[in-house]
Amino acid sequence: MEFFYLCFVLLVARASAQSLMEVLGTNLELTELYHYVNASSTLTNMLSSLDNFTFLAPSNSAISNYLESHNLTTIGDEEMEELIQYHILNGEFPARSWSAAPQFVHSELKNPMYTNVTAGQAVELVSDSQGNPQILSWNKTVSTIVTQDVTCTGGVIQIISDVLTVPLEMGILLLQANFNFFVAGLYEVGITSVFSYDPVGSDVNASDVTFFIPNSADALNAFTDITSNMSSKGDVLDILRYHIVTNDLVYSTMFQDGMQLKTATGANITISEQNGNIFVNQAKIITPDFLVSNGVVHVIDGLLNDLFTTSPPSSNSSSSGTSNASSSGKSSSKSERPHRYNTNSAYAHQMTFPGETG
Ligand SMILES: *[C@@H]1O[C@H](CO)[C@@H](O)[C@H](O)[C@H]1NC(C)=O
Ligand SMILES: *[C@@H]1O[C@H](CO)[C@@H](O)[C@H](O)[C@H]1NC(C)=O
Ligand SMILES: *[C@@H]1O[C@H](CO)[C@@H](O)[C@H](O)[C@H]1NC(C)=O
Ligand SMILES: *[C@@H]1O[C@H](CO)[C@@H](O)[C@H](O)[C@H]1NC(C)=O
Ligand SMILES: *[C@@H]1O[C@H](CO)[C@@H](O)[C@H](O)[C@H]1NC(C)=O
Ligand SMILES: *[C@@H]1O[C@H](CO)[C@@H](O)[C@H](O)[C@H]1NC(C)=O
Ligand SMILES: *[C@@H]1O[C@H](CO)[C@@H](O)[C@H](O)[C@H]1NC(C)=O
Ligand SMILES: *[C@@H]1O[C@H](CO)[C@@H](O)[C@H](O)[C@H]1NC(C)=O
Ligand SMILES: *[C@@H]1O[C@H](CO)[C@@H](O)[C@H](O)[C@H]1NC(C)=O
Ligand SMILES: *[C@@H]1O[C@H](CO)[C@@H](O)[C@H](O)[C@H]1NC(C)=O
Repeated sequence: MEFFYLCFVLLVARASAQSLMEVLGTNLELTELYHYVNASSTLTNMLSSLDNFTFLAPSNSAISNYLESHNLTTIGDEEMEELIQYHILNGEFPARSWSAAPQFVHSELKNPMYTNVTAGQAVELVSDSQGNPQILSWNKTVSTIVTQDVTCTGGVIQIISDVLTVPLEMGILLLQANFNFFVAGLYEVGITSVFSYDPVGSDVNASDVTFFIPNSADALNAFTDITSNMSSKGDVLDILRYHIVTNDLVYSTMFQDGMQLKTATGANITISEQNGNIFVNQAKIITPDFLVSNGVVHVIDGLLNDLFTTSPPSSNSSSSGTSNASSSGKSSSKSERPHRYNTNSAYAHQMTFPGETG
């Protein structure tokens, strides 16, 4: 009799899901997290009122790793609120919804102190080559799922191995991700601190920005060439602005062949697809989807050049400024604009990367 009663209780417990707060309060992998949530009425209220969500819940070891790597003994209230908001995703993402095709999902982190992605800062959900679900943040920092699909009312909980990194500003990415060619290129055009790389800051709201960052030896050569023929600082800023799309957040999953994006100069760039590669005008996207505080960054293999029209050298294919992939990958039937920079090897110069002290 008692046995049947117990079975009944267990069945009922299974059928009626716990609330998120109840799971946090009882799951042994989440005691550290619960400690913070329980101590804060802001966090308790935030997590009690969610619906249609995925909560990426940092495990106990995720939190102790975070403390250790940040040299902290405890996480402050504000920092914890920011972190928790970034770990709440809009919509339910059970493990089976992850795949090799990435998804960019917005979080509850919308505070302009921490992000100018107006729909909420994003995370990338993607499976690794073994099919294991991962969450990528910032400079593609990986967090894995240690316990999948803990259900609760209104959503799903994924217990994760590492606290996600809230994306930082562009200048910090330029340094940490070692975009050395681009940083050297900025130096060539007179921008000697990556933190001065803000060509849109002064005239447009720098929110929801898609950055294209030319980071290749060819791109650096092209930077060198334009400095040899630069009429004004405005020209350089226009060239940099031509690499930036504002108020239009375009993750790689949104690219479509023939898509036009309006840059901060007002002129359009064209996205195209060729043999599985994505091109921006004639430059190939080498690494898409770094996440920064105000948008997304795609690394390309050549400088976009439509604005620099003062001295077009004859467009001889042998002096193309972009890589083989971009020039050979495109069908010649498309109306391509010729490269206007003379970027032959005579311009190759000693690569010296500027020191950056911030
Ligand atoms: C939760 O907070 C209450 C006070 O608000 C406290 O009495 C209780 O011990 C806390 N529980 C845990 C597990 O920290
Ligand atoms: C951690 O912070 C303390 C106090 O500020 C400092 O003395 C110590 O060197 C720091 N340790 C690391 C690894 O940064
Ligand atoms: C849940 O959220 C996702 C993502 O925002 C949305 O597409 C979906 O329609 C929502 N579902 C419900 C039932 O509200
Ligand atoms: C967001 O933009 C505002 C200005 O519109 C700025 O003050 C704030 O610092 C920006 N936030 C971040 C995280 O860059
Ligand atoms: C990513 O960022 C973290 C912290 O901001 C840094 O420690 C790490 O070196 C970076 N990794 C890469 C591959 O850029
Ligand atoms: C800048 O931001 C303000 C407040 O969010 C908005 O009213 C204004 O339209 C924005 N301007 C542009 C050019 O996007
Ligand atoms: C620089 O531009 C001027 C015209 O603006 C042109 O005469 C000159 O040949 C150009 N120099 C180089 C190196 O392209
Ligand atoms: C630029 O692209 C936008 C769409 O992003 C389009 O509406 C507009 O017509 C394009 N302008 C030109 C000159 O092609
Ligand atoms: C390409 O370069 C060759 C050799 O330098 C020259 O003879 C030819 O006229 C150039 N073609 C064009 C289209 O400028
Ligand atoms: C460019 O293509 C040529 C011929 O296809 C090849 O010999 C050369 O190695 C390629 N260069 C690069 C940098 O890939």
